Parts: sequence; structure tokens; C-alpha cells
Amino acid sequence: MKLIIAYIQPHVLNEVKQELYKSEVYKISVTNAMGCGQQKGYSEHYRGVEVEVNLLKKMRIEIAVNDTFVQPTIDAIIRGARSGEIGDGKIFVLPIEQCIRIRTGDTGTNAIG
Ligand SMILES: Nc1ncnc2c1ncn2[C@@H]1O[C@H](COP(=O)(O)OP(=O)(O)OP(=O)(O)O)[C@@H](O)[C@H]1O
Ligand SMILES: [Mg+2]
Repeated sequence: MKLIIAYIQPHVLNEVKQELYKSEVYKISVTNAMGCGQQKGYSEHYRGVEVEVNLLKKMRIEIAVNDTFVQPTIDAIIRGARSGEIGDGKIFVLPIEQCIRIRTGDTGTNAIG
């Protein structure tokens, strides 16, 4: 079981979702995020208050999958999100210790799928 976290440009979310659906990945969590990558953010002082500049709006998507779905999920995100320009985003893959469906008590791969 892996947790796939991706930061993508907000305007490609629908395209990414469509590509995920084509790969039969339907479960997803999405939140608004602010971030910067290797182009770096910086902070400056405005009227005595430190403010972050250059933190850009991103969407953070989280998808927990069984192992056979890891690569198809990554491929779908890339198909939907890649423009070839800087800021296209980044994908992180993390191990999942456990997953529990609250309603049934199902655990592990049964709960994720
Ligand atoms: N190492 C990181 N740790 C945490 N978040 C990151 C990291 N790298 C990127 N992100 C998040 O992903 C978003 C998109 O990153 P981005 O695509 O700009 O990566 P990059 O490494 O700068 O690549 P590129 O040169 O293609 O822009 C960032 O705004 C940030 O929210
Ligand atoms: Mg960048």
C-alpha cells in the first residue's frame, strides 16, 4: 500500500481526474496548497510584518492505492499535469502502514480498494 501525494497546477485538476478515471482510480482527496519548488520562495517585510512572497497556488492530491496501482496512478497524473514548463508539479510516494475503513472495520488492501 502506498500513499501518492502530488502537487499540481490548479487548472489541470480536471484533466488529471479524467486520466485517473481512465486508469480506474476513483478515490482521491484534494486540498488547496501554497508552495514553491526549486525556483524558491522568499519572504520580505511589509509594515513590520514578514510576508511570504512567491508562494504559488497549487492543488495537493492524495491517493492511497494497492501496489499494482502505483505506477498507473503516477502515469495518469503525469499525463494530466505535464506541460513541460517549470512548476508542473511533483509526485511523492510514501509507504502506508495501515488503512481502516471506519464503517466496516476492513483493514489493509480490502479497505483501500
Ligand atoms: N521538495 C519539496 N518538498 C515539498 N513540496 C515540494 C517540493 N518540491 C515541490 N514541492 C511542491 O510542489 C509544487 C510544485 O513544484 P514544482 O513543479 O515547482 O517543482 P520544481 O522542483 O521546482 O520543478 P520545476 O523546475 O519543474 O518547477 C511546489 O509549489 C510545492 O508546493
Ligand atoms: Mg518549480
